[in-house]
Amino acid sequence: MSDTNNPRDYVVIKALEDGVQVIGLTRGTDTRFHHSEKLDKGEIMVAQFTEHTSAVKLRGKAIMQTSYGEIRNDDQ
Ligand code: TRP
Repeated sequence: MSDTNNPRDYVVIKALEDGVQVIGLTRGTDTRFHHSEKLDKGEIMVAQFTEHTSAVKLRGKAIMQTSYGEIRNDDQ
């Protein structure tokens, strides 16, 4: 549960090409896509894990920063 002592995590995503997709997956017993956001090169999205979103799938060349470090998705 999110409160002031235990806030929800954020991730920061920067697209390195046009058409990068940030896909949100639902929380709970049923894990499915609920939102797909398209980013063009240079666009940045700041996304939070919420009561509706437990996972994020990233498709395309992008940099993602999380509290665990930075991940670069560019060798495809
Ligand atoms: N309505 C969604 C939610 O509150 C919006 C959202 C939050 C989202 N984090 C996301 C959509 C990450 C895609 C990816 O959970």
